[in-house]
Amino acid sequence: MDAKQAKLDDLKQKIIDDEVTPELAKTATQLVFGDGNPDAELVFIGEAPGKNEDLKGVPFVGAAGKFLDEMLEMIDLKRQDIYITNIVKYRPPGNRDPLPDEKSAFLPYLESQLEVIQPVLVVTLGRHSLNCFLPDLSISQVHGQPKRYKGRVYLPLFHPAAALYNGSMRQTLIDDFESIPHITSKIKLS
Ligand code: URA
Repeated sequence: MDAKQAKLDDLKQKIIDDEVTPELAKTATQLVFGDGNPDAELVFIGEAPGKNEDLKGVPFVGAAGKFLDEMLEMIDLKRQDIYITNIVKYRPPGNRDPLPDEKSAFLPYLESQLEVIQPVLVVTLGRHSLNCFLPDLSISQVHGQPKRYKGRVYLPLFHPAAALYNGSMRQTLIDDFESIPHITSKIKLS
């Protein structure tokens, strides 16, 4: 097995052993750890699993995930080319927003996930994901602009679920998404 995959499997088990957010674990079907290629240059980070993700154990498999797949195709990428995960790894009951305590409980594990994968670019989806790493930035002001912080580059994007049924946000997200290949090659040259 891929050495990175083995480390990610250990990390997944550690979340279970450490009993992170036991209340959420109780109401969720299962842990939704992450999916895709551990050697990816791009890591996408969403908010938390929804109903479909909770049932399947895979992030972004519902309507937002389908839209994400369509945007990946626009830049000639597939799920197998990227890695995708969420900040919070159990479904919050009724799809409520994750609580600050829940986000901070998972942050060290998310950091470890990124440390294993070592992506060129971290794409944050939505404000929760952006503000986990860069708390002072506002998504409406910085979307589409790569931000370098503590040795990593982040690209803040709107969340595909928020943009799905909002015409102008949808187009903005598509435009920002289409800039990913250019941003990635610029980082690799720098
Ligand atoms: N929204 C998210 O933020 N994550 C998922 O996995 C699905 C929908």
